[in-house]
Amino acid sequence: MKKADVLIIGSGVAALQLAKRIRDEKNVIIITKSFLKNGNSNLAQGGVAAAIGKNDHFDSHYADTLEAGRFHNDRTAVLKVTKAAPRLVNELWAEGCRFDIDEEGRLLLGMEGAHSEHRIVHGGGDATGQRIMEHLESAVADKFTIIENTIVFDLIIDSRNRCIGAKGKSADGSIKSFFADHIVLATGGCGQLYHHTSNAETVTGDGIALAYKAGAEIADMEFIQFHPTLLYLNGKTHGLISEAVRGDGGSLVTEDGIAIMEGVHPMGNLAPRHIVAQTIYDYLREEKQIYLDVSTIEHFAERFPTITTLCERNHVDWKKRIPVAPGSHFLMGGVKTDLIGRTSIKGLYAIGEVACTGLHGANRLASNSLLEGLFMGGKLSEWINESGEQDEMDLRTAEFPENRRPIGKVNNHDMRLPEIKDIKRTMMDNAGIVRTEEGLLKQKHWLEGFQIEEWLNMDLGHFTFEELIRVSMLITSWLITDAAIKRTESRGGHFRSDHPCEKNHDWIGRQIIQKRNENNEQIETAVAT
Ligand code: SIN
Repeated sequence: MKKADVLIIGSGVAALQLAKRIRDEKNVIIITKSFLKNGNSNLAQGGVAAAIGKNDHFDSHYADTLEAGRFHNDRTAVLKVTKAAPRLVNELWAEGCRFDIDEEGRLLLGMEGAHSEHRIVHGGGDATGQRIMEHLESAVADKFTIIENTIVFDLIIDSRNRCIGAKGKSADGSIKSFFADHIVLATGGCGQLYHHTSNAETVTGDGIALAYKAGAEIADMEFIQFHPTLLYLNGKTHGLISEAVRGDGGSLVTEDGIAIMEGVHPMGNLAPRHIVAQTIYDYLREEKQIYLDVSTIEHFAERFPTITTLCERNHVDWKKRIPVAPGSHFLMGGVKTDLIGRTSIKGLYAIGEVACTGLHGANRLASNSLLEGLFMGGKLSEWINESGEQDEMDLRTAEFPENRRPIGKVNNHDMRLPEIKDIKRTMMDNAGIVRTEEGLLKQKHWLEGFQIEEWLNMDLGHFTFEELIRVSMLITSWLITDAAIKRTESRGGHFRSDHPCEKNHDWIGRQIIQKRNENNEQIETAVAT
């Protein structure tokens, strides 16, 4: 049986950063559900947050990350990632990644919500993800085997509970098992579980469902970030209008031009995303449309070419104002990992949005996601490059992975899967921006009507590509709903109107405690709440 060193499932920034940094002599296979660049990373407009400005310091980036994350974050993760950010950006830039620069050749630094400094590095105006992906792809294209249009539907776990491989189904229906020393989930989040989303069509929670099915620890699934501004026409959303637009002066207004964020939060239009999204949502519920007024932004079309094209394609005159609504954007929770990417199952790793490192807490700070992908891809590559021989696999179970679990007594005729459109509608209505116990219990009951336990215990090999996606969506929706029922408070991306926490809309004055050594180098930072 041919075995690779590393099997990477997914192909976003975290996956390609890992692949790029793994030593050339290693045998690496990348499997992706669609084609290499058809994912969220490529769509990312915003940028990479890094404290590289003259007056900036990573302790400020650290504090902003905690503030946005409502202090639910793992502080070690926040410290390590924010500290590493300038180096990660400078490395990419030195390698030739095309970030935007000013006349003097310095990196241009943009502003986004909940940041206290200009620190967003961007490329191609609002095409940062695409620029980074092009750069990383050029480094890995000839280096490793890339298998496209293949969905992984099961992880192979041996008798010692070690992950040793994965089973994939290609678009033509053929099934293949892949074996490797290190199996890495880099499948992204689950934005497509919701009717309104900024996410690529491929982002359906597959990695989380796979890990859960295999018995890995999953955390913080209730924390879903809804981006405040997606282009909104005739009850449908059509793609992201970057927060950088508000960073450059865009303002959220009603039909009559009243600024809606005034008096809601001291940062106004640049308040943390959950606050802006919940505010817009309240207006939409009363059938009042909200717009992004961009009339004060000079050279809008040059600064935001992707958004200009999006508006023009949808016949929206951006020079006047852009109709917007919130939509699901990012999952803060996911497969629980340490800062190397190790999950609770030996041999199984998770990096990027599929993982929950604790960096984002209850709500992610803008432009911290490409950053996390770059950081975690790098950290895992170091671990893999340095790790010695792996334990021998137990191939008896590898060949018969279904031995792992008794196959449920399933009469296929009785089993049915929900339609994708129904999952998206019900999740939006019952487990979306504003949640109640009643709505969540209704959603849980509806999801459980599709025999989730049975899907978890079944060999899904005979399902079609599309049915496998529906199984992932069902399992991941259930994990979100169940976690949202259990958290009886409002915090960041989880808002319970039956448990409103006053502080969710309040500005908690922060107190940064810094200790510096005699050379004025920071040796410790803490944020008191
Ligand atoms: C945006 O451009 O508004 C999105 C960036 C991000 O999610 O960090």
